[in-house]
Amino acid sequence: MQIVSIVGARPQFVKVAVVCRAVQPRGAGWTHRIIHTGQHYDAQMSAVFFEELGIPAADYNLGVGSGGHGAQTGEMLKRMEPVLEELQPDWVLLYGDTNSTLAGAIAASKLHLKTAHVEAGLRSYNRRMPEELNRVAADHLSDVLLCPTAAAVENLTREGLRERAVLTGDVMYDATLAYLQMASQKSGETAGRWKPGEFVLATVHRAENTDDPERLACIVAALGQIAESVPVVWPVHPRTRKILGAGEPPSPNIHWIEPVSYFDMLLLESRARFILTDSGGVQKEAYWMRKPCITLRDETEWVETLENGCNRLAGASAVRILEAVRRTGEAGPWLPLYGDGHAGEAILNALG
Ligand code: UD1
Ligand code: UDP
Repeated sequence: MQIVSIVGARPQFVKVAVVCRAVQPRGAGWTHRIIHTGQHYDAQMSAVFFEELGIPAADYNLGVGSGGHGAQTGEMLKRMEPVLEELQPDWVLLYGDTNSTLAGAIAASKLHLKTAHVEAGLRSYNRRMPEELNRVAADHLSDVLLCPTAAAVENLTREGLRERAVLTGDVMYDATLAYLQMASQKSGETAGRWKPGEFVLATVHRAENTDDPERLACIVAALGQIAESVPVVWPVHPRTRKILGAGEPPSPNIHWIEPVSYFDMLLLESRARFILTDSGGVQKEAYWMRKPCITLRDETEWVETLENGCNRLAGASAVRILEAVRRTGEAGPWLPLYGDGHAGEAILNALG
């Protein structure tokens, strides 16, 4: 069985690490190659994940880099097609909802290669999000749809895709289970500076927040108010850094730090009093760490996390964010809704 994984952005490195771990015990009959589009390229956005998670170096790095949606996706398509044509794998694995996912779906399906989409069926039903367009296109182009949740299977059923859907559980849950303990043993350089329960963790990178000055200003103002009573640790995504600039944070109790490694992030999440984020992955990790989460968006694909107040949607409204902070004590109980920690194996089983 020859598989090719197409990745390019930070959360996809975490996901492919789980597939690598699942392929390893399958023996010599299985070959797994990685194509890295180069969408993320800073050491803290890419190399650190390969090193820390023991992901084999990418077999191909397309070096596409940043750009507008058309230029970036088009360049990926152009550089990916000859590689896939030469490799002729049995399966192409796509992950999540980035431009790398979309390019992989188009390139592979036009070459009549079989494609499987990891994290299929997620929907925000907000077509202004680039990720929503990417995931809808990737699902409709893929042969097998590997769903992390029952809600994802239901979404696909409504779109007439039930026959291609397989419920596997969530690979990021596998990753959290596999790596949290390793993280506490090995790492912690950044996380070690913060005592458990004595800070809150924030991340912001969604285009709908960073590229709308009014929304970003409201989020920063709300974080400033939170920082009056508890330090806010905020690893800043490069997209957001470009907009915030290199200056000082607006409050001495807001700590803008470089993007952290996955191990450091798991530790920060596990030690934070609560978490504010617009990230998909971080919402789920907060859930698995049993940390109250406030989502800085108007909708979420991870609807299960909203049950029992574990996660609250607060958009970019300071009033809603602060109200959600007041209600963090009401969170829980948490339910095991993301599989059994063996989604990686379930994915390989679905490929035959
Ligand atoms: C992308 C995904 C998003 C995902 C996120 C994970 C798309 C459309 N969006 O968003 O779904 O949640 O990755 O983090 O695919 N930059 C750097 N160094 C890097 C990478 C990016 O400086 O290593 C800067 C560049 O200025 C770039 C900007 O960040 O223009 C945005 O990067 P891009 O990959 O286009 O989108 P993300 O916001 O990272
Ligand atoms: N992450 C990380 N360091 C950071 C911020 C996030 O390792 O500084 C991890 C996080 O733990 C999760 C993944 O990156 O596993 C989420 O990626 P991101 O928020 O960039 O994208 P999304 O999940 O929203 O697509």
